[in-house]
Amino acid sequence: MIRTPLMTVMVQAVRKAGRSLIRDFGEVENLQVSLKGPGDFVSNADRKAERILHDELAKARPSFGFLMEESGEVEGSDASHRWIIDPLDGTTNFLHGIPLFAVSLGLARDGVPIAGVIHNPATDELFIAEKGAGAFMNDRRIRVAARRNLADSVISCGLPHMGRGDFARFGREYGALGPKVSGLRRTGAAALDLAWVAAGRFDGFWERGLKPWDMAAGIVLVREAGGYVSDLDDGDKMLAKGDIIVGNETIRRDLLGVLRGV
Ligand code: IPD
Ligand code: CA
Ligand code: CA
Ligand code: CA
Repeated sequence: MIRTPLMTVMVQAVRKAGRSLIRDFGEVENLQVSLKGPGDFVSNADRKAERILHDELAKARPSFGFLMEESGEVEGSDASHRWIIDPLDGTTNFLHGIPLFAVSLGLARDGVPIAGVIHNPATDELFIAEKGAGAFMNDRRIRVAARRNLADSVISCGLPHMGRGDFARFGREYGALGPKVSGLRRTGAAALDLAWVAAGRFDGFWERGLKPWDMAAGIVLVREAGGYVSDLDDGDKMLAKGDIIVGNETIRRDLLGVLRGV
């Protein structure tokens, strides 16, 4: 596959950030860790990776703006293009030595995600997609899973956690969905959940309370892999509302039907 100049820039920046994360992952006990809120950790590994992404991308596309998890917004002279960055998705996993984390880099044009790269440097998996050009993992084309029955499906989800989310509602959803699927999973890294749906590993995924940087790249990946993406009201306001549900169209619709029924 031939990479566009834009994708080449994105991949180089993400790989460089990934190398920084891997160095820190090897010395996790020496990191400076602080809390942004209950159960919401950040470390200097997150900040270093974000700085690398910012600097590489600003050098390559000086006019684009930024939305970054740790440093917030930077306006660009080009008002329509904006990088959406999660330098380390799955910080809690990372800090526990669990190799399920990712760099997630999306590009939005006029608020719509048009390109995405998600990279797990611990497994050396690189997921990339550009609008209209398909989705790839390590340069091989990927597609969402073709299963049409919830009963055959493995579905990933995000759980409410300390300080965030509605535990009672999740309990009802689990009660309704658990008996209808062949497995429920929770990775702790929403960007990876989306990449893994794009790659056909998970048949579907939903989560509430996410931020644009958790989803922007993954939305492009799932769509370009032939999947469907919506918010939990069946609309397309994922980035604004912070909730998302994905899968092939049958699974997404059936999953949404179960979740809306509880
Ligand atoms: C978190 C992860 C996690 C999700 C949380 C996110 P972070 O991102 O994606 O899977 O359940 O809602 O905040 O903070 O590790 O980048
Ligand atoms: Ca975080
Ligand atoms: Ca995240
Ligand atoms: Ca993060």
